[in-house]
Amino acid sequence: MTDPGDSPVIQTFDLRKRYRRTTAVDGISFRVDAGQVFGFLGPNGAGKTTTIGLLLGIISPTAGRFELFGGSSARDLHSARRRMGATLETPNFYPYLSGRDNLRIVAGVKHRDRAEIERVLDLVGLGRRAKQKFKAYSLGMKQRLALAATMLGDPELIILDEPANGLDPEGMREIREIIRGLAERGKTIFLSSHMLWEVERTCTHVAIIQNGRIVRQQSVADVTSHGVAGLRAADPAALAAAVAEYPAARWVRQRGDRVVAELEDGDLAALNAWLARRGVHLSHLALEARSLEDVFMEATGVGELAPAATDALPGPVRHRLGEVP
Ligand SMILES: Nc1ncnc2c1ncn2[C@@H]1O[C@H](COP(=O)(O)OP(=O)(O)O)[C@@H](O)[C@H]1O
Ligand SMILES: [Mg+2]
Repeated sequence: MTDPGDSPVIQTFDLRKRYRRTTAVDGISFRVDAGQVFGFLGPNGAGKTTTIGLLLGIISPTAGRFELFGGSSARDLHSARRRMGATLETPNFYPYLSGRDNLRIVAGVKHRDRAEIERVLDLVGLGRRAKQKFKAYSLGMKQRLALAATMLGDPELIILDEPANGLDPEGMREIREIIRGLAERGKTIFLSSHMLWEVERTCTHVAIIQNGRIVRQQSVADVTSHGVAGLRAADPAALAAAVAEYPAARWVRQRGDRVVAELEDGDLAALNAWLARRGVHLSHLALEARSLEDVFMEATGVGELAPAATDALPGPVRHRLGEVP
């Protein structure tokens, strides 16, 4: 999955955070390499913000450790954090000040000059709206100003917690384009999201987190380049049960009157012949692109086979449905 020549920017090793009643982060290990746009995808309450808080040093871990730019000592982390920019939520900008004046305050704290304020305003497309008061900004503009503040100091690693949360499709598109532009300039981006759609369109790599655990980690290209077999026959439940016995089937899922399966060898003709020998005749068989949604469903069990259909599967395949590769 990762090229050994890549250099890790973030690496976590069995990182844990337990609160009195909740284990927010339950032993996660992942790696983000330079130049990746890494999507940290999971439902609300999965542990995304806690993980980001740990990386930023706002929250201290219960166990485990992490490295930033290859270092993990207090001194290493301190200097690493000077190479990072992060937004945990929309920062408290002053409503009666303009976007530019708000950035001047942040730039003062970060010891950045005026030229840099103009640079980051242009970067997020707020150059012409910089005189307007913050309170008159749309939510999308507020999020973009937060991104601009994050970009002061030209960080190499940018960490964004749900950057498109609450935005309309147009606002999301703007954020996506800014992120794409940053990626083209070689920045490493780590963003959390509970929206599949956002991650699929923005990210090069994804880790899926659920209940504080990483259930899947993969490049988005790997996800979408592997096709799945889409099948139809008169009796879809019987078809699903038959395909589940096929030796090269990694997983099988019935979706209404369709059956979808991932094949180890991708050989549709062999599957067709094998089914025909068992008296199962298909009305449709095609290679279909797998979406991140398929992977998310496999990994989290959301939208998995209905219990009745799952029970019809032989043990090994049923087990493989929830397996992490
Ligand atoms: N300070 C805290 N004290 C107790 N529980 C917390 C605290 N912060 C987060 N949690 C719990 O930890 C879990 C993960 O939360 P969080 O990291 O915010 O998830 P996400 O950002 O993925 O929505 C949730 O169950 C949440 O209620
Ligand atoms: Mg969160």
